[in-house]
Amino acid sequence: MNVLIDLEPRRKPVAVVEVRDLRRVFKTKKGESVALERVDLDVHEGEIFGLLGPNGAGKTTLIRILTTLLLPSSGTATVCGFDVAKEAQKVRPVIGVASGSERPGYDFITARGNLWFFSQLYGISTEEAKKRTAELSKSLGFSEQLDKKLYMLSTGYRQRVTIARGFINDPKIVFMDEPTSGLDVITARTIRLFLLEQAKEHGRTIFIATHNMVEGETICDRVAIIDKGKVLACDTPAALKKQVGRQVVVMEVGPPQPFHFVNALRGVSGVSSTIDNEREIATVRILVEDDGVEAQVRREMEGKGMKVYASWKQEPTLEEVFIKFVGRGFEESEGIAS
Ligand SMILES: Nc1ncnc2c1ncn2[C@@H]1O[C@H](COP(=O)(O)OP(=O)(O)OP(=O)(O)O)[C@@H](O)[C@H]1O
Ligand SMILES: [Mg+2]
Repeated sequence: MNVLIDLEPRRKPVAVVEVRDLRRVFKTKKGESVALERVDLDVHEGEIFGLLGPNGAGKTTLIRILTTLLLPSSGTATVCGFDVAKEAQKVRPVIGVASGSERPGYDFITARGNLWFFSQLYGISTEEAKKRTAELSKSLGFSEQLDKKLYMLSTGYRQRVTIARGFINDPKIVFMDEPTSGLDVITARTIRLFLLEQAKEHGRTIFIATHNMVEGETICDRVAIIDKGKVLACDTPAALKKQVGRQVVVMEVGPPQPFHFVNALRGVSGVSSTIDNEREIATVRILVEDDGVEAQVRREMEGKGMKVYASWKQEPTLEEVFIKFVGRGFEESEGIAS
């Protein structure tokens, strides 16, 4: 008789963050503003979790609640099993926080001095603080800047120091609010690789609020799409793409013309285009509902005197996933910032 033994049974994920029916309302002059409504979320140990949403979605409000800086209006949230409202003192030592809009510390003190200062707020021994400063600055690529005063550092290096500060207390979970916003590609990439290393090699849980699709797509194990205070979807980027249930047809056509007419065709649910003026070619991305639509789009384009040089299929991007759930793209939604 064959007995099948599962040698590595899949471990049930351990929830490090549990949010239940969370609501947060702000009183404003005009009345009430609901920043979070019926939010339910679980974040698992060792994962990079992305909270993806446009301006005013409620991302920072949720991070402020989870990091004990703000109380919920109703509902509950726990971090490492501690209630953020009732056991804030127990939550604080096990978390780290870093925000893209934050200052890393005191301008007239060196990066090293700042990190030592913050380590002392957690009661870390000098020896341990030195060790962590050396490790973090190495991983984040600012060892050479450690003895420079903060005001002398570029935006990118200042942000690296801010991120290091979020990890100085060896936290179980780190909350990051737009960690790479406004940074150049190299710095953003260094930070993302650092976050991956922290999650995958050190088992730390990373919670990132972002409206950066690259971040969601490249480093997050799971993402929650949030808009107007509500979580609209939560899954792995791959599973969310499947849920879109549509394909993207990319066409290179010329000469470029307005492509609004494509949007009006049956079976097309979205169109975007970029134009290469030098080559007089447009790359058009068309979100189609089924295979038959492509031939019709091609006919319409040729009927308008355009030539289709190439066409291929792609899976939807996270931005297209976002458009499906939110009903509009990020660029459009930027304008509704509060
Ligand atoms: N202190 C406050 N007083 C009044 N309203 C507030 C306050 N903080 C946040 N809000 C409102 O709550 C909503 C959510 O804001 P929040 O800052 O959490 O969004 P966000 O997703 O972080 O946006 P962004 O991408 O712009 O940072 C917005 O409508 C905002 O105006
Ligand atoms: Mg915010």
